[in-house]
Order: sequence, then structure tokens, then C-alpha cells
Amino acid sequence: MRLSSTPLLLTVFGAGLLTLTAQRLPDGQGFPAHPTPPPTLQDVPSNGLAMTPPMGWNSWNKFRSKVDDKAVREIADAMVKNGMKAAGYVYVNIDDTWQGQRDAQGNIQANSKFPDMKALAEYVHSKGLKIGIYSSPGPQTCAHYEGSYGHEQQDARTFAAWGFDYLKYDWCSAGKLYPHDAETLQAVYQRMGDALHESGRPILFSLCEYGLGDVWKWGPKVSGNAWRTTGDIRDTWASMSKIGFNQNELAPWAGPGHWNDPDMLEVGNGGMTDIEYRTHFSLWSMLAAPLLAGNDLRTVSPDILKILVNRDVIAIDQDRLGKQATRAWKSGDEEVWTRPLENGDIAVAFFNRGAASAKIAANWSDIGFKQKPKHARDLWRHKSVRLHRKEYSVTVPSHGVQMLRVKL
Ligand code: GLA
Repeated sequence: MRLSSTPLLLTVFGAGLLTLTAQRLPDGQGFPAHPTPPPTLQDVPSNGLAMTPPMGWNSWNKFRSKVDDKAVREIADAMVKNGMKAAGYVYVNIDDTWQGQRDAQGNIQANSKFPDMKALAEYVHSKGLKIGIYSSPGPQTCAHYEGSYGHEQQDARTFAAWGFDYLKYDWCSAGKLYPHDAETLQAVYQRMGDALHESGRPILFSLCEYGLGDVWKWGPKVSGNAWRTTGDIRDTWASMSKIGFNQNELAPWAGPGHWNDPDMLEVGNGGMTDIEYRTHFSLWSMLAAPLLAGNDLRTVSPDILKILVNRDVIAIDQDRLGKQATRAWKSGDEEVWTRPLENGDIAVAFFNRGAASAKIAANWSDIGFKQKPKHARDLWRHKSVRLHRKEYSVTVPSHGVQMLRVKL
């Protein structure tokens, strides 16, 4: 996979330009003339977290700069009440725009939207959930708030002292200090990986640098538990499907403890149909992607909730073998992806990317099976599917999916 880095970085960095608040920094503030050289490469010990892909919620896709203490508490409450916690969603993650200024000792403080981070973390923990935070290795985040540059150890200690369990670490303005070759990126992320390790608290480390420097090749060495493989997702079929169907070659790099991250879910944000959201959720689950809901869970509709808590599909995402799906077959807009599972079953997804409903027909042997499977369960209809012949065919609506769990 090749990424055209300069325009992508500009796009991603530009994506954060939002409402001006008191804490938003003037562009370039805090940028050193001579950045600290990145450390020598050395593996960071694994933190043992994320043996299956992380599940939870993140504020960015829906709330942008509007996230605050009240919203985070209400989202945690909603996750408990609406069955998402019971379905496996754990992390409640605050994205960009929480940061205030540093105090005289250089300790990062939250801005007025978050009066007491420690109390907020305690509240989320009291619900049986975990809480996540966001920073950047640059002096500024993508939305121009205070980043961790030059304060990595201090910030890791602060996040640990507040009780955070997850850090999304977003390249953003680090791109103005450092070149983005693989070695430099690894060294810059290693600095925070070490700091988290030294903090003594198990903190899931989510690398966000849009796939630069083939992050999947070195992410585990900095104790990364997940790494973004792409620029930002948007709530459209075009964006979601372009990202999702482009992950095939990255499959070998995912596994227990370290996952490819094609970005957070847009399910329920309104820009796609329910059929398309089912495809989004199915594809992300086939890809063993983090399942981070990105919608407003306080007002989620029953139909969208049904997608997010589909336990049959979640079980594919969370399968402990941790093998990411690959494309087994393609004909025009029709694609079949398969994923081996821990108990010997295979997950099979029949996708129709076309503008019209289509009958997808393939021989089992064409999609990698030695013989006709014994049994299949439809993971959206929640019922058995009859398998008569050596060919399997199914009519799939435009932009839809049929997802099966197949027993050999
Ligand atoms: C970047 C990231 C997004 C989000 C924003 C916040 O664009 O890729 O996921 O965190 O920054 O500013």
C-alpha cells in the first residue's frame, strides 16, 4: 500500500481546524527551532493489552470540539443502559480538544470543558468501563491544542495518575518537526511507548499516523496495540468502502495484541443507509478492526443499536485467533472475503459494492474451500442457511452484505 504523504498530511492536519476556543493555540506556537533528536531504536516491552481488537466509543466522529465532561458521562451511562457494555464495548475515549494550558511545572491541564479528569475517570470506571485520552507527539494536536512534544514522560504520568486506560497518539504537527520516514516515526512513537511503560499503568497505545512509514511493520516494537492504516474516514459510502476494501494486503500484520485500524466507525451518524452501515460493521469485523462507535449513543435509534450490538458479528471481530480477513474472490463489484476462526469455522462475507442488487454466485472451491461446508449461519438474519450444491448463490442488495459463519 502506498500513501502520498504530503497531501495526506495536509488534509489530515487540516481536518482538525475547528471552533476557536481559549485553549486553541496560534499555528506554530511551541514549535522549536531545533527539535530534540528522536531516541535510538529499541523495542518497548509489550503491555499485554488488546488480545482482541479494542471495542468502545470515541468522541471525534460525532462531537468534534463539542465533547465535554457531561457528554462523556452520559455516553458511559448510555453504554451501560443500551446493552453495548454487555455486548463487549469497554473504552470511552475522549479525542482532541480536551487540552488546556500547562501549569508552571509543565503539567498538562484539561480546559474548562473538563473540570476534573480524575473524577471523570473514576465515574467511567464506576460503570465498569475504561476511559481513553488523546495527544500528539507534536507541539500541537491536529485541532491546534497542546500536544505532548517535550513532555512525553510527564504527560504519560499525568494520564496514568488521572486513571486513563487508553491513549490515541496522533502525529499531527510532529510532521512539522520531523521527517516521516519509518525510522523517525518509530523513534518518535517509541518515546511515548517507553513513557507509558514507565508510567506503570497498563495503557492501551493506539498509534494514529495514517499509515505513514508502513507502521504495521514496526508498530508492535513501540508497544502499539493498534495503528491507523489510512487518513480520516468520512460518513459516506465512498469513503468507508474505499478504506475498508483497501485493507487486503495488510492482513498479515494484524494479530493478538496489535491490530490494523482502518479508523473509527461512522455507524449511525446519518450519512449512509442502514444497509451500508451493516456493510461497514461487517467489513470492520472481518478485518479484526477496533470497533469504536463514533455516534451519539445517548440518542441512538433501535435500528442502529441493533447493528452495533450484533453479537454474531462482534464474535467474528473478537475471535481469539486474531486473523484478519482477506479477499478470496472478486468479480466486478462483487467480492467475497473470508476469515479463519479459532474453533475451525470460517467467516465468509459476500459484498455487493455495485449500484444495483446482484446475485453473487461462486463455487465453494473458488473461494478457498476444499469441499462444500456442512453448515452455515447467516449472521444478520440469525438463522441457518441451506447449502445444497457446490455453488453458493445469494442475492445481495446494492452496497449490502451477506455474512456467514461456516462450519466445515
Ligand atoms: C486527526 C485524526 C482524527 C482525529 C482528529 C482530531 O485528523 O486522524 O481521528 O483524532 O485528528 O483533531
